[in-house]
Amino acid sequence: MAAINYQLARFEASYGTVESIPEPTQPEVSVAGRSNVGKSSLLNKLFGRKNLVKVSSTPGKTCNVNFFDVDGITFVDLPGYGFARVSKAEKDRWSDLIGGYFELERSFNLVLSLVDIRHEAQKLDRQMIAFLQDAGLPYLVVLTKGDKLSRNKQNAQAALLSKQLEVPRDQMIITSSETGQGIDELKSRIAEACL
Ligand code: GTP
Ligand code: MG
Repeated sequence: MAAINYQLARFEASYGTVESIPEPTQPEVSVAGRSNVGKSSLLNKLFGRKNLVKVSSTPGKTCNVNFFDVDGITFVDLPGYGFARVSKAEKDRWSDLIGGYFELERSFNLVLSLVDIRHEAQKLDRQMIAFLQDAGLPYLVVLTKGDKLSRNKQNAQAALLSKQLEVPRDQMIITSSETGQGIDELKSRIAEACL
């Protein structure tokens, strides 16, 4: 299969409202997940770049929908959900943005639903995944921060989260943006979905 040239990754634009998001012109991979789960870090790892995507030291920093172009494929960094320490108005803006984005007419080739491998399933993650399942969107659950657990613990957590999140184990990938674990497998799943 042809490969995606991730070296061509470039920032395209940042949108603060659903209305400002342009019509899609190419395949799209979207990255969703709780604030601080590692969305931006994963994108940087995929792109082989340190700082193309802003990584937050304070969670809840990415409050726009950010578009990147990679060799004819759009990658979308969605705002993180579930960050407690923001105002009701900010929370509403975020859920409008995320919900509104998925209501648009687009070619959702693959949605990456990121979940921290260290924790039990969280309600908002199950809700996000249930939404993707109900909408019939192609998705993968990307377990993040694998480097924080031993391989045995990783596998035990993946089995637990598969049950709790009601996602088949083969629709989950264990990754680490620190060590690069799972990144090659993720790239081939993205290529399958987009090319
Ligand atoms: P928001 O944009 O606020 O929603 O966060 P995000 O999901 O984009 O998370 P981000 O990539 O900014 O990472 C949050 C924190 O987790 C940063 O301190 C990262 O360095 C750290 N982090 C992300 N991925 C990994 C990983 O694979 N391993 C480890 N050890 N730390 C990670
Ligand atoms: Mg981010």
